[in-house]
Amino acid sequence: MSTGTTSGAPEVTLRLLNVESAYGPIKAIRGVSLQVEKGQIATVLGSNGAGKSTILKTISGIIDPRKGSVEFKGQNITARDPAFIVQQGLSHVPEGREVFPLLSVRDNLLMGAYTRRDRDGVARDMEQVLAYFPILRERAAQNAGLLSGGQQQMLAISRALMATPELILLDEPSLGLSPKLTKEIFEIVVRINRERGTTILLVEQNANMALNAADYGYVLENGRIVMEDSCARLREKDDIKEFYLGMKDEGVRGERRWKKKKTWR
Ligand SMILES: Nc1ncnc2c1ncn2[C@@H]1O[C@H](COP(=O)(O)OP(=O)(O)OP(=O)(O)O)[C@@H](O)[C@H]1O
Ligand SMILES: [Mg+2]
Repeated sequence: MSTGTTSGAPEVTLRLLNVESAYGPIKAIRGVSLQVEKGQIATVLGSNGAGKSTILKTISGIIDPRKGSVEFKGQNITARDPAFIVQQGLSHVPEGREVFPLLSVRDNLLMGAYTRRDRDGVARDMEQVLAYFPILRERAAQNAGLLSGGQQQMLAISRALMATPELILLDEPSLGLSPKLTKEIFEIVVRINRERGTTILLVEQNANMALNAADYGYVLENGRIVMEDSCARLREKDDIKEFYLGMKDEGVRGERRWKKKKTWR
């Protein structure tokens, strides 16, 4: 869903232009250009090592690009400090759901609001966030390290929400979760987008879930975008059906098999 401006042109929340990022001599992404419209869920699909996490790390300021630019709400945020970027309204839920294991669930959530000074607002948002994930309310006093993988993913998403972001970067929320839990988390991600109007950029190997949840998709291969289209159209493309949606091989491993695949072509 995109929210148009009065002129009818879509408002662009995030724009990457020819972004190149590397780890020493290893170029992880090469000339990536993409945009996410306000109110949209966009997804970047790609197999193991394609460069998905690198794109998100470059956006949130964890790594600085060698080339290109990142624009958020019309402001150039290329290579800015991660804390500054969070303050502008951009939150990153990293791969592997990094929660603070020795802090309680509640304190983890408060960490997500550490830049905020409006205590009433923080308390109100805590209530709203816990309404999305009732299990976290039950576990609020427990150490986060005791949560299951799915619950930790819920906590990581909730912590990002506590900063009241306009854009959330979600790195493989399905990683290591059962198909049932993955479905549950994706449904809530879509609800957050619809109910709060939060713009979302989601990177995934689980193309099936991502293409159903998102509006617009990019396919990343070896650090380059090789295809982009609306998710409705991507779902109909033969290469996507065959290599990402696994229409030809519905194996017992189910949706997680993509983690094992090296390339999709
Ligand atoms: N810290 C690092 N040091 C060196 N190379 C790295 C580092 N992190 C990632 N890379 C390399 O950069 C490339 C892109 O990695 P990235 O983590 O962005 O891929 P990804 O699409 O997120 O993969 P996955 O699905 O496994 O999470 C890979 O070739 C990877 O080996
Ligand atoms: Mg990754």
